[in-house]
Formats: sequence, C-alpha cells, structure tokens
Amino acid sequence: MSDLAQPSAPLLDVSNLVVDIKVSAGTLHAVNGVSFSVMPGETYCIVGESGCGKTVATLALMGLLPRSATVRADRIMFEGHDLQTLSQEQLSELRGNRIGMIFQDPMTSLNPVFTVGNQLMEPYLRHRNAGRREARERAEYLLEHVGIQAPRQRLAQFPHQLSGGLRQRVMIAMALMCEPALLIADEPTTALDVTVQVQILNLLAKLQREFKTALILITHDLGVVARLADRMSVMYAGRIVESGTAREIFKAPHHPYTRGLLDCIPVPGVHRRLGSIPGIVPSLIGESEGCQFRNRCSLASATCVHDDPPFRHLTTGNGYRCVIPPDAMANIARQVNPGGAP
Ligand SMILES: Nc1ncnc2c1ncn2[C@@H]1O[C@H](COP(=O)(O)OP(=O)(O)OP(=O)(O)O)[C@@H](O)[C@H]1O
Ligand code: SF4
Ligand SMILES: [Mg+2]
Repeated sequence: MSDLAQPSAPLLDVSNLVVDIKVSAGTLHAVNGVSFSVMPGETYCIVGESGCGKTVATLALMGLLPRSATVRADRIMFEGHDLQTLSQEQLSELRGNRIGMIFQDPMTSLNPVFTVGNQLMEPYLRHRNAGRREARERAEYLLEHVGIQAPRQRLAQFPHQLSGGLRQRVMIAMALMCEPALLIADEPTTALDVTVQVQILNLLAKLQREFKTALILITHDLGVVARLADRMSVMYAGRIVESGTAREIFKAPHHPYTRGLLDCIPVPGVHRRLGSIPGIVPSLIGESEGCQFRNRCSLASATCVHDDPPFRHLTTGNGYRCVIPPDAMANIARQVNPGGAP
C-alpha cells in the first residue's frame, strides 16, 4: 500500500459510467452505473469474477472500445479534463503519455515486427518531442529499473526473443516511459508463472512508490489486493457492489458477494473450510430488474427480485449495494461468524 498524504483532488473521477454493447442477441449491459475516483499516487484495485465488466469499464475511460459499444457517464474527469469532450486525437495524446496501460498479454500489445527499443522509444518521441538519443537513454534507464539486465542489448531484440516475464517487464517500462500520472494494469500477471507473478507485482508496487504514479490494478487475486490496495471496488454483473478502503473491506465485508469472495481465499494459520460461491454470473444481455446477485445469495428475499438495491454509505466511508441495511447486516454477520466483524 502506498503511504498517502492527506486527500487532495482526485486524479480520476468517474460518475455513473454506463457501457452498452450491441450484440446479435440484443444489448449487453456490460457496465451499469459505475462510479469511482482515484487519488494521486494511490493503488485502487478492481476485483470480481470473469465477465463482470472490469476491462470494459477501464477501456471505456480510454476510448478504446469497439464501435458496437456506447459509452455515457455523468462525469469522467482526469487531471481536470473532461474525457467525454476530448477528440480521439486528444485521447490518444493522453494514452501513453499521462495514462499508461499494461494489458494481460504483452504479446497482443507488443508489435512483433519492431524491436523492443523502437517500441519503447516511440511514445517518448511522439509525446515528448524528444530526440532519439534522449529517448534511448530513457528506455535504457527504465529497462534497468524494471530489473532487465544488459538493457542496451535488449533494446535491439524483438519481443519473441524474450521470455514472458521479460516481455511483461518491457510492457511496464513502456507504460512508464512518459511518467504517467496514472497506470492502468489489467490482470498484468495472469499469463505468467507464479514466481514471476510475485516479482512483477512487487516491481509494480516499488515503481509506483518511486514514481508516485496512481495505479488501477484489475485482478482476480484477493491476496494481491490485500497486500497492495489502498482502496478497492468489488464488481458484479456490471455494477460496483462494494467499495472503500481495502483495510475496512477485508476487516468487515458487507456485501454477501464480497463475503463469498473473501471466504474463497485461504488465511495462513486459520483452518476453515474454503468457501465457494455457487452459481454463475447472469447474462448481461437485455433488461433486468432487482439484484443481479439474487440467484446466488443466501440472504435473498422477495424484495431482491424487483427492487433495485440501494448503495448504502457506511460511517467508515465505505459502502455496499444491498436491500439489507448495515445494522441488520452486522447482526447476520455475527450469527454467521460469531466474534467476527462487522
Ligand atoms: N467487444 C465486445 N463485444 C461484445 N461483448 C463484449 C465485448 N467486450 C466485452 N464484452 C462482454 O462484456 C462483459 C464484460 O466483459 P469484461 O471483459 O469487461 O469482463 P471482465 O470483468 O474484465 O472479465 P475477465 O475477468 O474475464 O477479464 C462480458 O459479458 C463480455 O462478454
Ligand atoms: S439485494 Fe438481496 S440478493 Fe442482492 S445481495 Fe442483498 S440480500 Fe442478496
Ligand atoms: Mg478483463
């Protein structure tokens, strides 16, 4: 977790983001009213099962979705710019310059026909109006910083000549070339083996502290979230169902889905049966009402079928989306987990 000073203005402020995608069977509501903000220098994690809208939400911010997608929001502000009013050209200027992106699979983002050096230098030359020598020095400096030995030789290599771990390090270096204020890392380690995953995540945390970059980290791994996140959101079926400081959520999760996810991670030294959430994420195609989690929720009642669950703000600053108010939820949690929180 980063050592944050007192809150200042958010770097990124997103309010009521909606993304609909036209598919052959109708309209897929991939993101349904998502709001969050990211402060300068903080680590903000987004978690949730596959297909709940994590990637679509972040690609929407960057204007990187296909034409079949419609994006709207009450507000998408980044460094004082309203991203919704920017042209594609202006958005592209922000990408790779003020906002760096690291994708899950570096082979889809690195171009096989260009050398590592060319690809690292390209955004710097484009955004910084710099000469080739300066760009090369910056590329070497960053390769060294992400733990790549003999950086000068690596600059001349092509992506296929590098291992998966090295390629991911190159992607991180590329994303940092222009000293972005915000780094978006979408499952940056799932394509790698476990040892390399740990190295890359430690590296991201170190670089983030060093360069004071804010980080949006999308991951399935709650162990990683517990270790790195300042704040987090849990997404389910296109909506944020719980959000707030990671510390509070891990200490006292409120939403039944968050509890289910947390029950699925082993706790060192604690012997308990690992939980799993029965059922699957519902289809996001077409209109729906009520709570999307109701078919998997042990607390579901008739109210959950038709009522849109409200987002409930807690005194800790955290919040969750459910028809059950905090006091009643605390009682339920005590019955399920006597002596535990909340
Ligand atoms: N280009 C697209 N065309 C049609 N549907 C899409 C497209 N991209 C995403 N979707 C759908 O939007 C929903 C949200 O997808 P998204 O990729 O954001 O999920 P995710 O939470 O990132 O999942 P994962 O953890 O597997 O990466 C899914 O139902 C997905 O099938
Ligand atoms: S609204 Fe109902 S179904 Fe949804 S999480 Fe709350 S209790 Fe469960
Ligand atoms: Mg994804």
